[in-house]
Amino acid sequence: MGLKLNIAGTSLLLLLASAAEVSGDIIFDVTKYGARADGHSDISQALLKAWGDSCSSPVASTVMIPNGTYALGQITIGGPCKAPINFVVQGTVMAPVDTSRFKAEAGWIAFQQIDQFTLSGGGVFDGQGKTVWGRKCPHYAYCKQLPINLRFNFITNSMVKDITSRDSKQFHINLLGCKNLAFYNVAISAPDESLNTDGIHIGRSSGINITDSTIETGDDCVSIGDGSEQINIQRVTCGPGHGISVGSLGKYPNEEPVVGISVKNCTLTNTQNGVRVKTFPASHQGIASEMHFEDIVMNNVGNPIIIDQEYCPHNQCNLKVLLKQMKNAIFIAYFPSFSLHFHQSGT
Ligand SMILES: *[C@@H]1O[C@H](CO)[C@@H](O)[C@H](O)[C@H]1NC(C)=O
Ligand SMILES: *[C@@H]1O[C@H](CO)[C@@H](O)[C@H](O)[C@H]1NC(C)=O
Ligand SMILES: *[C@@H]1O[C@H](CO)[C@@H](O)[C@H](O)[C@H]1NC(C)=O
Repeated sequence: MGLKLNIAGTSLLLLLASAAEVSGDIIFDVTKYGARADGHSDISQALLKAWGDSCSSPVASTVMIPNGTYALGQITIGGPCKAPINFVVQGTVMAPVDTSRFKAEAGWIAFQQIDQFTLSGGGVFDGQGKTVWGRKCPHYAYCKQLPINLRFNFITNSMVKDITSRDSKQFHINLLGCKNLAFYNVAISAPDESLNTDGIHIGRSSGINITDSTIETGDDCVSIGDGSEQINIQRVTCGPGHGISVGSLGKYPNEEPVVGISVKNCTLTNTQNGVRVKTFPASHQGIASEMHFEDIVMNNVGNPIIIDQEYCPHNQCNLKVLLKQMKNAIFIAYFPSFSLHFHQSGT
């Protein structure tokens, strides 16, 4: 009995030692768990411990990465947690430069299965992608292995605001299976020549808002993949990059429909495309409907509106296979309702 009490007492003391309470909110600060803001010591163990304590807190709490520059390796920050969590990143967090330190497709930082989660704080996630964009990307598989800066998998009723994603090695932000997730005042930046660095890619998610954000990158500003429903994009500034895209769709059989896309009051400047719907050649059956584009200002945009039904990146489409498929092609993707209202202003 005495031993049991001691253990409980010890863990309570540890919890109190590493958590500070500010205005009723418990703060789990990574620097109290051994993280050093020296720009090269990997803080992932400290962050996982801070997250673990926050996640098991029965009341709302905050995980904090304060001011400073930190190195962070590949990490999965997962729920479910017992109460809402604010993850406040004030500092600059740097990814490893060496791509061999990433497991394929896992992303750099993956948030998953968390409800009532807020990521904020004004901090920067720097993917340090400069070294990989210069390499040729002849095999799509290799490109796929490059880490996505921030993955949000099955995140619900949550908000991401006041953060920056910089120089990702691949997509900056990727959503999978999210519901009711809002992005507000998010900045994304990578140079025009960065390959495959889509700003925000949405897949199999619903109730997603992206507002008052700035996306400068080398690929799509926002791309909307299959199974996306009720997506609202408002007051987003894009450019450089490839514009706002629905797709690519129709690459695989049984893709889920894209329904209810609203893009309003956005400005695209120096982008390759404006608004685009792209489907693979001889695509599988798919539906993209209720797409609404309104008050879109385009400055020096290559193709202001483009519906591309022969989208074929990285020459993945083998012509022979394609011709064979085309013989059997039953249909091409179908857009029952597509309304566009926009004005183009000159350069
Ligand atoms: C964080 O660092 C920036 C730049 O060094 C400084 O301007 C700011 O006041 C710092 N904020 C806090 C809360 O220490
Ligand atoms: C997204 O915007 C709509 C319309 O303004 C709003 O009703 C909804 O609550 C927002 N969703 C989130 C997750 O903030
Ligand atoms: C578009 O957004 C700007 C601010 O970003 C605002 O001043 C303007 O009123 C908006 N226009 C519409 C039609 O909502």
